[in-house]
Amino acid sequence: MTDLDIRPITGALGADIHGLDLGEPLGTERTDAVKRALAQHLVVVFRDQDLTIEQLEAFALQLGPYGETPFVTPLEGHPNVVAVAREAQEKGALFGGTWHSDWSFQAHPPSYTILYGKEVPAHGGDTVFTNQYLAYETLSPGMRRIVEGLKAVHSADRSYGPGGTFGRPDPNSSINIQGSEAALETQVHPLVRTHPDTNRKALFINDVYTVGLDDMNAAEGAALLDFLLPHCRQIAFTCRVRWTPGAVTVWDNRCTQHHAIDDYAGSRREMYRITVAGEKPY
Ligand code: SIN
Repeated sequence: MTDLDIRPITGALGADIHGLDLGEPLGTERTDAVKRALAQHLVVVFRDQDLTIEQLEAFALQLGPYGETPFVTPLEGHPNVVAVAREAQEKGALFGGTWHSDWSFQAHPPSYTILYGKEVPAHGGDTVFTNQYLAYETLSPGMRRIVEGLKAVHSADRSYGPGGTFGRPDPNSSINIQGSEAALETQVHPLVRTHPDTNRKALFINDVYTVGLDDMNAAEGAALLDFLLPHCRQIAFTCRVRWTPGAVTVWDNRCTQHHAIDDYAGSRREMYRITVAGEKPY
């Protein structure tokens, strides 16, 4: 069994993993060790990687098959890679700049997301993560009984629908986003999901894609979400990844949320992002 050099970031989640070159095939043992680290720490960071897009793709495929990328035009010749870039002078809404779990509006939302920092600001542009096992486990027994049986409605409408944040093409944006009517579709997922690898329960809701609760009227759903969503992102559940050039961060969308921070006006940021396919939440 391979032992990795793992250094936790906070008491809640996140770890730096040292000593791996992601440009080389990991092999089964080290891939399994990375997956075990993800199961334990939820978010892992590999520093100082120097990867081509093909090497990033090869690393992703060791974690699982690609997920489906909607609404965002991928890199030419690389249909599963999105360039999350922002020029120094750009001012529009920041991609990923609200609390969310990636593509939770899909029937099978991604398991992992991989984000590679090719060019990062000297300071600013961090990504913050929050642990959704802790969000579930810290609820009172009474509230846990209430949420256990509930289902949440997810939709891409607020981001990619015709009236959404990214609903109209922005000629000044470095990310080519194509909002559409497809964003109006909804998916219903359990509010409390069980992670297939750890068997732990996590809250599975987020500010941007969770639009209500199933089998409840809008006021009832909003009241419960108004309590649960801030609970999900309280500071003791979080860690903040400070990007360095060549850092690769992998996170598990099934038990975390994340938020890109819009605080680097005047600096350029160029990241490459791949999602790994996930299962239907249960
Ligand atoms: C994302 O939400 O996938 C992007 C996060 C980031 O750019 O930090």
